[in-house]
Amino acid sequence: MRHFLTLSDFTQSELQEMIELAKTIKTQTKKREFVPYLKNQTLAMIFEKSSTRTRVSFETGIYQLGGTGLFLSSRDIQLGRGEPMKDTARVISRMVDMVMIRTFEQSKLEEFAKYSKVPVINGLTDSFHPVQLMTDYLTMLEFGKTKPTVAYIGDGNNMAHSWLYLAAIMGFELRVATPKGYECNKDIVAKAQELAKEYGGKISIGYDPKEAVTGVDVVTTDTWVSMGQEQEKAKRVADFKGFMVDTELFSLAKSDAIFLHCLPAYRGYEVSEEIFEAHANEIFTEAENRLHAQKGIMVWLDRARDK
Ligand code: CP
Ligand code: NVA
Repeated sequence: MRHFLTLSDFTQSELQEMIELAKTIKTQTKKREFVPYLKNQTLAMIFEKSSTRTRVSFETGIYQLGGTGLFLSSRDIQLGRGEPMKDTARVISRMVDMVMIRTFEQSKLEEFAKYSKVPVINGLTDSFHPVQLMTDYLTMLEFGKTKPTVAYIGDGNNMAHSWLYLAAIMGFELRVATPKGYECNKDIVAKAQELAKEYGGKISIGYDPKEAVTGVDVVTTDTWVSMGQEQEKAKRVADFKGFMVDTELFSLAKSDAIFLHCLPAYRGYEVSEEIFEAHANEIFTEAENRLHAQKGIMVWLDRARDK
């Protein structure tokens, strides 16, 4: 049995298999052929943070695969009143077939997985957002960016960390530009550099958004204020001055460059209204691809369990 906690737990060919499954199932879904790959299975979805895309895509996804989704907000289950993660894991995993968790520390997710009898999927932690990055990879392929150079501009957060692992393992070039004081976690960067060596990826880390964006195929960013950091907003907005992806910055990328954003987006902060709307097709294709990419992941995990 395998869990989907972070991209670095997988080889390039394993991630590729998930992407291939996602593509196949997306084609079937578009033809309204709903193949019951996960017939009668239940996916429990535990949310300790808010969500629009993750909730709707997992719940719809499992339903379209022939199963059912259980939305469990920590506000409503005993976890929110202090029942330990390991007890929650031992109870829920005896009743359902797969679990998705959105939580704070990666260690909480790992604790759940350690005690779970069924595969556990990371639906976002403070450190990583791997299902989003599988989605972003699928979206880049669909837009013809098969061996892209990508610029990530902004906070060295969960999205940046998962971009590092994706680029390293799938073997493409990633340039990260953050303000000073908002760098990616050093250990994660080091691990990504190691993986990049193994798979032929290329990672550079810096502080200059213009340098990072110049000549790239894909520009991406994320909110400056992640869930749980709301009290830091004023300081962050001041510190991220100069890091908005606007027309001037984007014009340095290749003329056919695409723009990705995991959403929710805050216009006038990490991205300008103009750039967001000019690239709405890419952004909302990316949002839709959450549904398809995660189906690929769930079916892969189900098959891995049977091996
Ligand atoms: N991108 C993403 O994970 O969106 P939600 O927070 O709405 O799930
Ligand atoms: N970095 C953001 C991503 C939201 C999908 C957060 O953690 O809130």
